[in-house]
Amino acid sequence: MRPSAPVTPAQQAALVAAAGEAAAHAYAPYSNFRVGAALLLGDGSIVTGANVENASYGLTLCAERSAVVRAVTEHGPSMRIAAVAVANLNHADSSPCGACRQVMAEFMDPAAPVFFPQQGSVQSRSLGELLPFGFGVRHER
Ligand code: THU
Repeated sequence: MRPSAPVTPAQQAALVAAAGEAAAHAYAPYSNFRVGAALLLGDGSIVTGANVENASYGLTLCAERSAVVRAVTEHGPSMRIAAVAVANLNHADSSPCGACRQVMAEFMDPAAPVFFPQQGSVQSRSLGELLPFGFGVRHER
């Protein structure tokens, strides 16, 4: 699929389910807030990540950035993210944090959707809505 192709309901459901499964692998002994993220890549594959905390709290890696790091490692630097889903096992609202939005924007079009739990249901917003005026520099890819 092209990174800009619309995400089908079946793809969205698979992505949300994958994020939930990834959350079960979170390492979150300090916050007990267990997060999973799933990325739908331009080639149709799904890559997941979970949050990984540390006794030095500031070293904690969010689920979304874990997934991005894994996607680049497994699929190479030209991978593109067509959609993202976030889930948590705490029945809490969790849209991606600002740092993760900026990191996702490196590989994602502003029009691409992000699905996240909010007030008991799955909300969808484009990355551009979540991160208006994100930082960027021109570079050769
Ligand atoms: N966390 C994520 O994994 N993603 C976010 O977008 C926000 C927060 C994690 C970090 C930490 O392990 C826990 O949630 C509580 O902040």
